[in-house]
Amino acid sequence: MKRSLKAIPLLLVVMMFAVLASACGNNSGGSGSKVDVGIVLPTKDEPRWVQDEQRFTDALKDTKYSSEILFSQGSSAKEKENVEALIAKDIKVLIICPQDGDAAAAAAEAAKKAGIQVISYDRLITNTDAVNYYVSFDSIAVGKAQAQYLVDHAKGSGQPLYLYAGAASDNNAFLFFQGAWSVLQPKIADGTFTIANSSEAVALKDTAELTREQESKIISQVTTNWDPNEAKNKAQTHLTAAAADQKGDVVILAPNDGTARSIADVFASDTAITSFVVSGQDAEKASVQYIIDGKQSMTVFKDVRNLVKDSISMAVSILDGKTPETTGINNNGKLDVPTKQTDVQVVDKDNVKAALVDSGYYEAKEFTGL
Ligand code: BGC
Repeated sequence: MKRSLKAIPLLLVVMMFAVLASACGNNSGGSGSKVDVGIVLPTKDEPRWVQDEQRFTDALKDTKYSSEILFSQGSSAKEKENVEALIAKDIKVLIICPQDGDAAAAAAEAAKKAGIQVISYDRLITNTDAVNYYVSFDSIAVGKAQAQYLVDHAKGSGQPLYLYAGAASDNNAFLFFQGAWSVLQPKIADGTFTIANSSEAVALKDTAELTREQESKIISQVTTNWDPNEAKNKAQTHLTAAAADQKGDVVILAPNDGTARSIADVFASDTAITSFVVSGQDAEKASVQYIIDGKQSMTVFKDVRNLVKDSISMAVSILDGKTPETTGINNNGKLDVPTKQTDVQVVDKDNVKAALVDSGYYEAKEFTGL
């Protein structure tokens, strides 16, 4: 009798501790604890997504809600597992950047079934109605800016144009290419550029506006799959096959920084290439250094801080029972998804310091020769 009387208060204390611990916001979302906002990013292998992780961690310090960030490491199966693990932690909002837009539909549907609101982050989850919001950059503007840079730095006429694209499983790859094509096609038609490495693009060179199927044909032929190694191999194959008149001064549409650096390295090592202009995007540190060193021509700076801020305020609005602010819609094949879109900025050697260092995005000491 005496023993059990003593045991009760002790048990109560233990229980109170457990309740307190789960009620306290826990930003790291340690295993077993409840989490308010689950964040799933595609891979740690690309600096772009490590940037996003860092910016999320910085921004989340100031919210009262708890969160947990998981990486899918390039696998849709792992992505689904991550989402299931977060559902088990009782998340109310899922912020997810899909590895593969179509494949992620299953994960989004599982979340929807559990009553979770799904925010598609940077890349759109496609062909499902289980997406509540989309937060992204203006991806068509990204492609336009890359192409416009090539046009603005064109030399003479009939200049060889090498085209590269992102992964066909990523809806953004289509938007980037759509934007780029809208600027490049008139310049192919007027003879400024000659397509050097894509028979599919040559076959469509008179078509100003491509259908998704037409875009798909070109993208499948010149895809890098967002993989710098694949980009490198493709560039090598293209230069090996290229005739003399497809060398000299050339321009290259490279879809992002990771692929731009490897494509640039291949073109730089070919003695028959006299000069090249190459695009990029993401303002990755390594590419910022390439731009300072004159090895990559430009990048499109997508200020991840804004994207993170927008998606967190969207999540907080949802958690607070309010309707998040959106600026437009994006059709994902099944649904017009309310969207919050953010602008982008062109960066080259001339404004690299002002745009990326003086703005506080990076520190000067991270680079040499600024
Ligand atoms: C993103 C880019 C990124 C690419 C490869 C795209 O969806 O918008 O910023 O470079 O994926 O990860």
